[in-house]
Amino acid sequence: MGNALRARHIALYGEALRPPTVLLPLDKHPQRSDPPSSPADRPAPAHGVQVAPLSMEWSDLTVTVKIGGFLKKKVPLQILAPCSGTASPGDLLAIMGPSGSGKTTLLDALANRLTSDKVKGKVTYGGATFSASEQHKHVSYVAQDDSLMGVFTVTETLVQAARFCYGYSISGAKLTEIVDEAIETVGLASAAHTIVGDIFRKGISGGQKRRLSLAVELIKKPSVLIVDEPTSGLDSASAYGVMRNLTALCKAGHTIITTIHQPSSEIYGMFDQFMLLSKVRTVHSITYTPTRHTRGEEAFALWLRLRS
Ligand SMILES: Nc1ncnc2c1ncn2[C@@H]1O[C@H](COP(=O)(O)OP(=O)(O)OP(=O)(O)O)[C@@H](O)[C@H]1O
Ligand SMILES: [Mg+2]
Repeated sequence: MGNALRARHIALYGEALRPPTVLLPLDKHPQRSDPPSSPADRPAPAHGVQVAPLSMEWSDLTVTVKIGGFLKKKVPLQILAPCSGTASPGDLLAIMGPSGSGKTTLLDALANRLTSDKVKGKVTYGGATFSASEQHKHVSYVAQDDSLMGVFTVTETLVQAARFCYGYSISGAKLTEIVDEAIETVGLASAAHTIVGDIFRKGISGGQKRRLSLAVELIKKPSVLIVDEPTSGLDSASAYGVMRNLTALCKAGHTIITTIHQPSSEIYGMFDQFMLLSKVRTVHSITYTPTRHTRGEEAFALWLRLRS
């Protein structure tokens, strides 16, 4: 296949026609050195995003709920066993584990989305405890399911998010600047005036919806961004694009904690820290060393350990 034809096919069909992935040392990997060849490969712009760097620490975090059927006595059930960890600015912490292992529960506890009687343990930011309003100001949560209004366009959605966040304390020009910056950061310029869509109307794609959900939270420029399964349900090119956005945000100073299922080797290479949950407890956590091969080996060793 000629180069021009091949480039056109890649543009049309994305990852499908790419050659098989070969594990290369990090410094030689195409994502770092070669020119981008598809829209999903384009480096995500992170310009203009200025955030206050903030680390997050948690220790002995547990979540217990009460369960019981009709006319049955309610009994406590621990759905997250004591869990400790840290996340630093500029680092991408990936949390993995099988379905039902407690990933969303951990993120909910970290983001203070559970009632206080369920959660025990300590969450601090740079060593300090935050009030609920301080936490709301500095921490954003992107849930597993997108909750967007189908009738609005991408721009309208972000304008509303900006108005909700800043009210009328900012001018129209500043609002437009904030919205444009969020659109550019997540690479949604080409779909800026497309409706989100719902079951009755076709709108932006699933990957674009995930990126729009991210953009909505980025409007307030949170120091800590917690994202639940940003790539679930996406094809490999869209998943890669979303994760490139997250790594670009890390480089801009955000602290990012994300859960993820079945990352490709390219996505694996983007993690700085890794935490594995199994049966609602933390099995292991690693802070990665910079070589790509080590990451794969460590992850494989963990996986074997989990199975035995
Ligand atoms: N309110 C509740 N009452 C009883 N059990 C609960 C409650 N909330 C969560 N659980 C249980 O806690 C466990 C962890 O749930 P969680 O949603 O955190 O899993 P997960 O790792 O995010 O899974 P997935 O990958 O499928 O999203 C599950 O077994 C779930 O059934
Ligand atoms: Mg979950």
